[in-house]
Amino acid sequence: MKIGIIGAGNIGGNLTRRLTALGHDVSVANSRGPHTLTALAEETGATPVPVEEAARGAEIVVVTVPLKRVPDLPSGVLDGAADGVAVIDTGNYYPQQRDGRIAGIEDEGLTESRWTERHLGHPVVKAFNGTYAQDILDRPRPAGAPDRMALPVAGDDEAAKAKVRALIDGLGFDTVDAGGIDDSWRQQPDTPVYGLREGVDGVTQALAQASPERPAAFRG
Ligand SMILES: NC(=O)c1ccc[n+]([C@@H]2O[C@H](COP(=O)([O-])OP(=O)(O)OC[C@H]3O[C@@H](n4cnc5c(N)ncnc54)[C@H](OP(=O)(O)O)[C@@H]3O)[C@@H](O)[C@H]2O)c1
Repeated sequence: MKIGIIGAGNIGGNLTRRLTALGHDVSVANSRGPHTLTALAEETGATPVPVEEAARGAEIVVVTVPLKRVPDLPSGVLDGAADGVAVIDTGNYYPQQRDGRIAGIEDEGLTESRWTERHLGHPVVKAFNGTYAQDILDRPRPAGAPDRMALPVAGDDEAAKAKVRALIDGLGFDTVDAGGIDDSWRQQPDTPVYGLREGVDGVTQALAQASPERPAAFRG
């Protein structure tokens, strides 16, 4: 499958590694340009591209940049993607450590992914946001393995969500349907499921236990 990855850091780099190893055709971009991605390209066989070209022809695009950098992405960054493209958002809001105060989240009460999709102008599927980057490399397991981890996946577009869940299954993880993007506060930072290394039952329970109150440490 043709996959575009926007952001080549902890998460984008490791998704590039695993997805190329599975045989996917991966284009990857960062903010500084493809000439800074030659080592990752040599290691993985991914194609380094300018960010404007990352989505071209892609059936799945992963947006994995720090939340505060989402508004810096070029307008029309998803233009040229395949019809029905699924856009994965891995983002988290860290107002005190990294992102500063974002009014749409704090004052309007948007979920982090709803805020992101408004900037992108395209629906997103929230996935990997609570997954340690290293676990993408270290924790894949075959289907049915007793210690296979499950990841929560939220999104309003059922077809896109199904496509993302199938991709994650191929990466070696189960998934749990975490509802739509308005429900995705259940998997934001500091919720019980965030960083949880458990299977389907544990993830399902943790999602149910989440509180909609944004914790003080995650307010700007
Ligand atoms: N680290 C984790 O374990 C983890 C786990 C789950 C979710 N997350 C979330 O996933 C997101 C990414 O995290 P990360 O740790 O992978 O970040 P990171 O290591 O800081 O990497 C960020 C990447 O985004 C690129 N970028 C920034 N602005 C850009 C722009 N305007 N256009 C194109 N590329 C741009 C950076 O490129 P340059 O270096 O060229 O600027 C860099 O490749 C964050 O929201 C984070 O909270 C992280």
